[in-house]
Amino acid sequence: MSTASQPGPVSIPAPRSRTRQRSNYELYSWLFMRVSGIVLVFLVLGHLFIMNILDGGVQRINFAFVAGRWSSPFWQVWDLMMLWLAMLHGTNGMRTIINDYAERDQTRFWLKMILFVAAGFIILLGTLVIFTFDPNIG
Ligand code: HEM
Repeated sequence: MSTASQPGPVSIPAPRSRTRQRSNYELYSWLFMRVSGIVLVFLVLGHLFIMNILDGGVQRINFAFVAGRWSSPFWQVWDLMMLWLAMLHGTNGMRTIINDYAERDQTRFWLKMILFVAAGFIILLGTLVIFTFDPNIG
């Protein structure tokens, strides 16, 4: 019997072996995508229902509505969690896509730099808006 078609000692690099790290970072990142996804379903569907369907829906949204809503710590925390989770989830998802598709080290590095800076800026700006919103400027 021929052994030509049998598997030999061929070394195939593990997926994403280019990002060499001896830590459980990718495991926690995988878990974070699942957990944040589940939490986001409730936050986003709740947001959609309250803002666009309940009580006259989108027609009733104006400056006074937002001012009233953000006077409550409950809605501040809701919106803050939605902002952080969606941004961290989306950014981490994009990081995976860049690691998978960008082949050159330099390309991968700079795409991720742009991604992280943009995400950091949006998270910072959004957080600032939620906590420093002034209802008296309207
Ligand atoms: C609303 C509920 C959401 C659920 C249940 C959810 C669930 C998931 C899960 C389980 C993954 C991992 C897929 C994988 O590893 O193969 C994923 C990936 C991803 N998610 Fe979400 N997600 C949600 C919302 C969002 C939002 C709001 C954004 C954007 C801000 C987003 C952007 C992404 C991206 C870019 C990926 C990477 C896709 C890939 O690896 O091919 N997701 N999502």
